[in-house]
Amino acid sequence: MAEIIDGKKIADDIKCEVKEETRRLKETKGIIPGLAVILVGDDPASQSYVRSKGKRSEEMGFYSLTERMPANTSEQVLLKKIDEFNRDPRIHGILVQLPLPKHLNEQTVIQAIDPRKDVDGIHPMSIGKLVLGIDTFKSCTPAGIQELLMRSGNDPSGKHVVIVGRSNIVGKPIANILLQKQRGANAVVTVAHTGASDLTSYIKSADILVAAIGKPEFITGAMLKPGVVIVDVGINRVEDTSLPKGYRIVGDVHFESASKVAKAVTPVPGGVGLMTVAMLLKNTLKAAMQ
Ligand code: GUN
Repeated sequence: MAEIIDGKKIADDIKCEVKEETRRLKETKGIIPGLAVILVGDDPASQSYVRSKGKRSEEMGFYSLTERMPANTSEQVLLKKIDEFNRDPRIHGILVQLPLPKHLNEQTVIQAIDPRKDVDGIHPMSIGKLVLGIDTFKSCTPAGIQELLMRSGNDPSGKHVVIVGRSNIVGKPIANILLQKQRGANAVVTVAHTGASDLTSYIKSADILVAAIGKPEFITGAMLKPGVVIVDVGINRVEDTSLPKGYRIVGDVHFESASKVAKAVTPVPGGVGLMTVAMLLKNTLKAAMQ
């Protein structure tokens, strides 16, 4: 049976490090890291993520601010709020929770964030630096994947990493992070996606598989190379009438069959999801230090 990579333990370790560094920054320089999170609309999953980001920030000793705006907020009003946070010296990091309501242009909004405060690592300036291997804020979920691999003893250097999914928020940045000639990277990277004529053959060739396609339990044990290390980024709600809430959360990988073939696997929940917030906190501390 595969080893289960404990995302909770690794995320807790990172949070302990951030908390200690935050204490030291406050003591030596009198600086308190500040994070502003903006949520537009009332999507239940986004509300829960934003609550968690606010709570964890407070636990770190950060100055934490959550701005909840109605779903019909105009682009002008949202941009004005971002500009206010760009100018506020108490705030070192700004995160606009995605997805945004349809009438708002995601790129216009992201590009309004001061790149020095882009702790989410999604501004084109941050992504550009990431591609070039220049130090920057790495997108939180991809940065979390890199930490999970390193801290679980699965260095990607020299390995064939297959990423399934090409989103701006996971697939593209993690491919560029793991490709760099740097510690914690130096992998041979393939980005596969649902448009591939033979997706299974790519999946089968992975030493490390990053599943980020958003399809519940799509990847099964039969598709995998024995000994593969699996990072499951999927967070999918599937109906389960046996549970009081009527659904359960599953990844993009069929855990039971995959864990009979893999060397190690991240669980869902309890894997990558917890790392995203931990890396956001780490990036906010970095912004405050800078
Ligand atoms: N929605 C889901 N994941 C993320 C993330 O990492 N950042 C932002 N801004 N929105 C998200």
